[in-house]
Amino acid sequence: MTGERRPLISGNWKMNHNHFEAIQAVQKLSYLLSANDYDAVDVSVHPPFTDMRSVQTVLQSDEIPVALGAQDCHWEAAGAFTGEVAPAMLAKLDVSLVIVGHSERRQLFGETDEVVNKKVKAVLAAGMTPIMCCGETLEEREAGTTEARVAGQVRAGLAGVPPEQVASLVVAYEPIWAIGTGRVATPEDAQAVCLGIRQVVRDDSGNAAADSVRIQYGGSVKPVSAPDLMRQPDIDGALVGGASLDPEEFARIIAYRLVG
Ligand code: PGA
Repeated sequence: MTGERRPLISGNWKMNHNHFEAIQAVQKLSYLLSANDYDAVDVSVHPPFTDMRSVQTVLQSDEIPVALGAQDCHWEAAGAFTGEVAPAMLAKLDVSLVIVGHSERRQLFGETDEVVNKKVKAVLAAGMTPIMCCGETLEEREAGTTEARVAGQVRAGLAGVPPEQVASLVVAYEPIWAIGTGRVATPEDAQAVCLGIRQVVRDDSGNAAADSVRIQYGGSVKPVSAPDLMRQPDIDGALVGGASLDPEEFARIIAYRLVG
């Protein structure tokens, strides 16, 4: 961590936890976190859409300073888009962060860089913060094209976004080969790619945006790997999948700074 960038640790629950389980998970997490955690780190949870109203109610009524996030949204404001959810609907539920372009959306649901770019702009227009994901496949890493791939995704995803808005958003670097595999990137490898992402932002959007944009690492983050990852100067947080489903594990990741 450098400068004034506050770390952001986000739990991406993916398609797990019904709304009863979601309430329990958030309550349990709140018992495990302390004022010291909230002072040092921003925390968000990203439940499925069906859980959102329930989680919002618990966070509000128990005054839990955890941000509510979504895993995706559509880019249009309203209309004939069966099955989709509009950004303004999320904002109305006090959602403040929306994951955009997760590799599962890209790989399993055909999301392109152009779609990701539209969603980033729509999320910003609705007054929320995008967490825009990028990351290379194993083949791309082995072919030595990681940097070019990730730079291309970041450029395309942020195309046309004004520098002041780039400054406020979050980029998540998630190597696809590390997601859900237990194979975490080394802190040095993750740092090198995150530094490259910041350089792309510097080139395209200027120093102020590059110094403010928060860059998370994601991919098999666990309590044991979080401290070394979070120590890297260009890693400002973590996007946590599997380990965020267990409040105890997630709380230990959030408390990364107390280790070592
Ligand atoms: P994982 O998922 O922590 O289970 O690897 C990370 C993610 O996909 O955001």
